Amino acid sequence: MRQAGRYLPEFQEVRKEHSFFEVCQTPELACEVTLQPIRRFALDAAIIFSDILVVPQALGMQVDMVPGKGPSFPEPLAEPSDLEKLKKDVVASKDLKYVMDAITLTRHKLEGKCPLIGFSGAPWTLMSYMVEGGGSVTQSKAKRWLYVFPEASHQLLQLLTDVIVDYLVQQVMAGAQLLQLFESHAGVLGSAMFSKFALPYLRQISTRVKKNLEDQGCTPVPMVIFGKDAHHSMEELAESGYEVVGVDWTIKPQRARRMVGPSLTLQGNLDPCALYASNDDIGRYVKDMLQKFGTQRYIANLGHGMYPDMDPDHLKAFIDAVHMYSEDINAN
Ligand code: CP3
Repeated sequence: MRQAGRYLPEFQEVRKEHSFFEVCQTPELACEVTLQPIRRFALDAAIIFSDILVVPQALGMQVDMVPGKGPSFPEPLAEPSDLEKLKKDVVASKDLKYVMDAITLTRHKLEGKCPLIGFSGAPWTLMSYMVEGGGSVTQSKAKRWLYVFPEASHQLLQLLTDVIVDYLVQQVMAGAQLLQLFESHAGVLGSAMFSKFALPYLRQISTRVKKNLEDQGCTPVPMVIFGKDAHHSMEELAESGYEVVGVDWTIKPQRARRMVGPSLTLQGNLDPCALYASNDDIGRYVKDMLQKFGTQRYIANLGHGMYPDMDPDHLKAFIDAVHMYSEDINAN
């Protein structure tokens, strides 16, 4: 949840010298910024520094990170015929080799201190960026594709799925010990459209990644599906082959647990803006969250990404409170 990033002065220092994607593409730099939060805080896991948009880049699309605006595609997909421009033979071990190199280097440098998480954007979320050309509140251009060009949409989602499966398998081979899929734009789809255009691909990814790893003699790693604003499809997400379901802050912990059942692990869900509160208040929010989720089959986390103006000391208060209260709860 943007564990590494602009809220850390040491990250800003690196960014002064290097563009965002230069950091992603240079294993030594990606490794360095991945480790920055690990040096500062008692974190239980590291997440490799990269971005979900490296996959559209591997497919041949240009993506710029525009300061103050976020990601921007100068030539988004406008019509189904634009699909022909996408590279059809992406091989993750080659086209995204820099991510695997960053993962391997980081695994070594972590020296077993904590596990390393790999990740990818989910197909619908990546498709929406490729069609919208950047962030959008309504996602109306991307949703228009689903309604007007359903076949081309499925073709694009399948292409993305194939690349993502290969990409995630390679991340595990390179050293990732857990995988997270970000379906950040789940909320703009209702349950019917989500069932048609998102879930089948999410299921394919969990099934194929595990099978491919087994076929190559690797033990599959746990997989997390994070669907932002995915209230409409929590039960379905719980049955899509992932060990962990990530939840944003807009869902009640007890409701999330009822919807996913007793055997899955939940992850989340503090409102990231709670980090603007005083350290004492952060402690109270954490205590409340842990009491509601319990300490078993639960990974304490924020419900979405951190913002650049957040105070690192408040993140420390969050992390320390998680450890303190979970030990308290476990002792009683
Ligand atoms: O969490 C981590 O530390 C790992 C690295 C990570 C980043 N992005 C780094 C980043 C991860 C896991 C992501 C995922 C990501 N990227 C998602 C899914 C999670 C979510 O937020 O829903 C999405 C949708 C993106 C696309 C993206 N990249 C956006 C919308 C932005 C702009 C964000 C902003 O606040 O401006 C980015 C840029 C980005 N990705 C930054 C970082 C640290 C900040 C850019 C910078 O340094 O200039």
